[in-house]
Amino acid sequence: MPDFKERYGPVALVTGASSGIGAAFAEALAARGLNLVLVARRVDRLQELAGRLERDHGVGVEVCPVDLARPDAAERMLSATAALDVGLVVSNAGFGMKGDHADNDPLAMAEMLQVNCNVPMQLTRGFAPRLRERGRGGFILTSSVEGLIGCPYSAAYSATKALVKSLGEALWAELQPDGIDVLTVCPGATESEAAARAGVDPATLRNVMKAEDVAELALDNIRNGPTFVSSEHYRATFDKLLSMPRRDALMAMAAGMKGSATDQNRGG
Ligand SMILES: NC(=O)c1ccc[n+]([C@@H]2O[C@H](COP(=O)([O-])OP(=O)(O)OC[C@H]3O[C@@H](n4cnc5c(N)ncnc54)[C@H](OP(=O)(O)O)[C@@H]3O)[C@@H](O)[C@H]2O)c1
Repeated sequence: MPDFKERYGPVALVTGASSGIGAAFAEALAARGLNLVLVARRVDRLQELAGRLERDHGVGVEVCPVDLARPDAAERMLSATAALDVGLVVSNAGFGMKGDHADNDPLAMAEMLQVNCNVPMQLTRGFAPRLRERGRGGFILTSSVEGLIGCPYSAAYSATKALVKSLGEALWAELQPDGIDVLTVCPGATESEAAARAGVDPATLRNVMKAEDVAELALDNIRNGPTFVSSEHYRATFDKLLSMPRRDALMAMAAGMKGSATDQNRGG
């Protein structure tokens, strides 16, 4: 898109930029000439990425270390960028947990709700007036194909991603008249640190996309919201599931996962 920098620049904020899809978003945005604010906890990773992007693409990159599990996380990002003309907010940070719902650690579930749901909700609330005032800009929210239907043996994570999808769809309609694009990206299995973090052996994943491709496709489709499933394979799979009677779809998914809660053969 030739006017990408004009429409979404000069500054983009990317959460979860220290690895995986977020780092790929940062790279792709720097290549499009946007200055960046990079958010995550691992400041060493962010600094290394910032230095490389500044060198390779001649953009300005600020590092903003925030633990998104803190209740004031969104406020911190809004304050840290108060003096910057942010035109694009990529709310991408998140994590999951797999397995029998009853085995999940309740504290980890509460943290997941904060990072995966409350942060995008507060961040979009805080940035919407700033983008409205500019009359142009965008939000990209990273959900998952698991946000499209309740996924057995990933119940809590799947529910957090459904919230992100609903949030993004509603905001797409609310913000269209103001010239603000909202795209909710639903990746399938993607190369990143997510699987290992969720206790899944990445070698068991199938039909895996590269994080770079997910980010690039999302940016190319930013005006094609509200929702974008980045993987052709997962788009076909989930279209089929969603066309089935709901009970049949859920039982088929549960059967596929049964006894192999860590055998992830679908996207996270
Ligand atoms: N990989 C997949 O198969 C897949 C599929 C569908 C959707 N997704 C979604 O894609 C998004 C990116 O995940 P990924 O696959 O790229 O995984 P990843 O490599 O594990 O990256 C997750 C990012 O989120 C950040 N993060 C997690 N908890 C945080 C916290 N408390 N505070 C600040 N930052 C935090 C991490 O940074 P620090 O650890 O440095 O803080 C990291 O930068 C997530 O929302 C995930 O749910 C992934």
